[in-house]
This record gives sequence, structure tokens and C-alpha cells, in this order.
Amino acid sequence: MAGTPETRKPDFKNGFPIRDFGDRSMISGQVDGEEVVLARRGEEVFAIASHCTHYGGPLADGLVVGDTVRCPWHHACFSLRNGEALRAPALDSVSCWRVEKVGDKIFVREKVTPPVPKRAADQPSSVVIVGGGGAGLAAADMLRREGFEGPVTIISADDVPPVDRPNLSKDYLAGTAQEEWIPLRPADYYRGRRIDLLLHSRVSSLDTRKKQILLENGRTLEFGSLLLATGADPVHLPIEGATDSQLHYLRTFADSKAIIRKATSANRVVVVGAGFIGLEVAASLRARGILVDVVAPESQPLERVMGAEVGLFIRKLHEAHGVTFHLGKTVTRVRDRAVTLSSGMVVDADFLILGAGVRPSVTLAEQAGLAIDRGIEVNEYLETSVAGIFAVGDVARWPDPHTGERIRVEHWVVAERQGQVAAKNILGRREKFDAVPFFWSQHYDVRINYVGHAEKWDAVDIDGSLDARDCSVTYKKGGRALALVTISRDLQSLKAEAAMETELRSQRPAGA
Ligand SMILES: Cc1cc2nc3c(=O)[nH]c(=O)nc-3n(C[C@H](O)[C@H](O)[C@H](O)COP(=O)(O)OP(=O)(O)OC[C@H]3O[C@@H](n4cnc5c(N)ncnc54)[C@H](O)[C@@H]3O)c2cc1C
Ligand code: FES
Repeated sequence: MAGTPETRKPDFKNGFPIRDFGDRSMISGQVDGEEVVLARRGEEVFAIASHCTHYGGPLADGLVVGDTVRCPWHHACFSLRNGEALRAPALDSVSCWRVEKVGDKIFVREKVTPPVPKRAADQPSSVVIVGGGGAGLAAADMLRREGFEGPVTIISADDVPPVDRPNLSKDYLAGTAQEEWIPLRPADYYRGRRIDLLLHSRVSSLDTRKKQILLENGRTLEFGSLLLATGADPVHLPIEGATDSQLHYLRTFADSKAIIRKATSANRVVVVGAGFIGLEVAASLRARGILVDVVAPESQPLERVMGAEVGLFIRKLHEAHGVTFHLGKTVTRVRDRAVTLSSGMVVDADFLILGAGVRPSVTLAEQAGLAIDRGIEVNEYLETSVAGIFAVGDVARWPDPHTGERIRVEHWVVAERQGQVAAKNILGRREKFDAVPFFWSQHYDVRINYVGHAEKWDAVDIDGSLDARDCSVTYKKGGRALALVTISRDLQSLKAEAAMETELRSQRPAGA
């Protein structure tokens, strides 16, 4: 009888001949029934678990960079020495084994003990985090990992603990992800790490001099250090004749649930906006068998972010799944089920979902007198214009060393990584935020990965074929590659990220 692929994998306990690596840097195998990857870096060999702790991505298909391995799906980064999740979106470490070289073979021995929290250099009296999104949670998590022992409080206007927000427009909305998968952490995580989570609580003002915040419910809280992770709010579009119950936005878990409730009895939906959220929503509703009309003012979806070629590909992909586009149009009026477009055409719809972008939630920071520049202005350490107050995620505009510009993005991985770096800096680590921006978007079975940042470009190079869904698209300015989009080329995306990191290091004066 033929063995399963699992049983055919080498058992690293019995020794693995080094020459069998060939020119590969990673080999999949097993140890005591657990899937393990052997990773080679020069003469050194490491053994770590095969699957990423984010969504289970196959680490053997990723990239070894120094003594780390990067996940091919959403670029999480793990230490090969102890399995520590060094960079989001993975927050949990992977198992790691001790290896021994005997003769010309590598033997995998016992598991290495996971890293223990380090003792923090600086210990502020307390840390208050305003915002219960990905950035806020990643910061609280890192404060504890870095050995901070004082009080940590997350204050969130949401009525649920931090959730996997990207999933709200994808599998969860499509009905293929269970509700239990959506919270980033279970309830006992917060208790276990002594993270006080104040839900359904909005901070109404901030006194930077007294180091105090005031909640809408009248409660005041003092802080040693403060992290603002207030994210962004959807832009609301007034549409003549539409009732509130006809218009939906998608930012929170509650928003996604409300859309699902309506979708269960709907036949037709109009999505206003052909950005990432609008199009992911369109794909998820098509998975539910709902007819979708997308209305948007631009001439191609996502054209501003990814150019006309990728925009056309995305449009054709959605059309092949039955989505109808009304591009170069807006919605002018709604009367009951009749949605009138600027062309005069009338489209029938049970309800509308508006995806017209977001605005950074700066009100609190603005009223407190923090420097604002289309977001909260922070320095390379993610500290605002007031010492001891940091800002991260969708709300923050930071000096991006790769472009040399101050940028603000709306990327899950950037928000979490900024939360992690800010946590270290709250503890006095003085770590610059220099990660290469990365985001992904999922449309049906097509995942699009984007590394770098290009607001404007003067050349677009396409390698491979968009229609074959196997390509990389490079956005260049003055001959320099600023950003790369890949479809089915995860390794290339990781290599581009690593190359951008190397380019930055080579520009820095020694010791900086
Ligand atoms: C549906 C959806 C799908 C997405 N998909 C992707 C994707 O595929 N890939 C990707 O890279 N990015 C994606 N994004 C973007 C990504 O989710 C955001 O970049 C990320 O959530 C930003 O995290 P954040 O913590 O900065 O802000 P948020 O997650 O918005 O969290 C902000 C928090 O602050 C709280 N808050 C705000 N003001 C106050 C106040 N005054 N007092 C108390 N609390 C306050 C809010 O309640 C919330 O808890 C998606 C976004 C959405 C909405
Ligand atoms: S599955 Fe590894 S980063 Fe998402």
C-alpha cells in the first residue's frame, strides 16, 4: 500500500544526510509525528515546526533570511534559534528543536524551551493603550513578552475583544470561517497576562500634562506611558433617499455580522466603491450566491493603488464570478429598492454596502494638541510630538526610511508590527520602525501580496502573466523599484522584501 505523503517524509530523528539538502535551504520532514522543517544557513542547520502560527502557512516554502524564516503567505518572521515570532502577523512562537551534526548527518533531538519574557529595561508606572484593534493588541502582547510587569490597560470603543479584522470581509463574511476563529485571543489570554480590557469604552479626552485620560462614562485613568492605536473610521457618504438601515459599512465584527444577517435573505446588493474592502465584500457575497453590482467613480478598480493593468485583471476576475461593474459612476439616489446611478440607470438592491475608504481617527490626539499631519505624526520610534505618548497603526504617519517620505498606510501587518515596536520603545529599547510595508488582499482563490510603497510611479514592469495568475508587477520610479505586487509568487515577494531591507541597511552609516 502506498504511504501517505506524511509517512514518506524523512524522520529527522534518524539523521538526515547533509548532502541531501542539495541547493535547497529548507527540507520538510517529521519528528515524533510532528511536521518539522530543517533550515540551513551556511554551515548551521536549524529545526522548526512546519506551519506558521498565523494561518498555518507552510514555512518550508518561505525564505531563510539570516537566522530567521519568513512565512510565504503574509510574511510573519520567526527566529530559527528558538522559534520566537519576531514579527507579526504571527503572534505565537513555533516549536523549535535542538539539532546535532554527527558525521555527515543532521540529527534532530529534543525541543528547545520557548523564549522566556525578558526583563524590561524601563518600567513605566503603567501603560494605557487606546484602541482594541490589531495594533493595540500586538503592543500589549509585546509589553508582556518584553517583561513589563506593571499594569497594562486596553481601552476599546468596540464591544468585543480585538478581532482578526481582515477576516471580516473575507472567509467570515463568505460563511467559510467560524465565529470562534475571529477573536485574536481567547478571554483567558487577557486574564493570564494581566491585561485589563475595557470594552465598549470610548476615551473622550486626553490631558498630556496631567497624564490622564477621561472616558465617556466619566471615569478617569492615569498613565505612565500612553499608546494611541485608534485606527480609522469608514468615510460616510450621504445618499439621497437612503434610510440608515439600507446603508452598511464594514469595519467592526458587529458590522460584518449585521451584513451577514441581511445577506441571509438578500438576492441583490450594491457595493459602492471598488477598493479592497468593497471588492472583498463583493467576492464574499458572490460566495453566498448574491448578485452584486459594484458602483465606483474610477475607470478601473484599484487603479490608484496598483495601476490599470492589475485593475483590469481584478475587474475581469470579479466579472468571471458574476459581479457587474458600473465604473465611472456614482449613486445619486435610493428609493426603496431602486438605486439610481449618475448615468440615470436604475439598479435593484436589497441593501447597499459603502466602501469609500477610511479616515484616521485623530480627534482625541488633535484635541490634546498632538502634532497632526493627515494622521498622528510620529517619529522613527513611533513617538508623537509629546514624549511618552506613542501612536501606531492606521492612525499614525511615520517617516518611512524606504521611500524617504512620511507615510500612513492601512495594512494589518504594519499596524501589528508598529504596535510591537512601540511597546519595545515604551520600555526604552529605542528601536526604529523600519519594516517594509506589506499587505495582502484575497479575491476568490486569488491572493495578491504587495510589498513596499508606491504612491506614484513612472514605470510598471510585469513579469509573467496576470491572466495566468502567475506574475510579479514592479512599480518603479527613476529606475528604482518601490513596490512589488505578486500573484502565486510568494517567494519572490519575500525576496523583494528582504532586498528592500538590505538596500536600507546598505544606505545607513555604520552603527546607525
Ligand atoms: C474588513 C476589513 C478587511 C481588511 N483586510 C485587510 C487585509 O486583507 N490586509 C491588510 O493588510 N489590511 C486589511 N485591512 C486593514 C487592517 O485591518 C487595518 O490596517 C488594521 O485593522 C489597523 O489596525 P489598528 O489597530 O490601527 O486599527 P483598528 O483595527 O481600526 O482598531 C482601532 C481601535 O481603536 C478603537 N478606538 C478608536 N477611537 C477610540 C477612542 N476614542 N476610545 C477608545 N477606543 C477607540 C476602536 O474601537 C478599535 O478598537 C482590513 C480592514 C477591514 C476593515
Ligand atoms: S500564514 Fe504565515 S503569515 Fe499568515
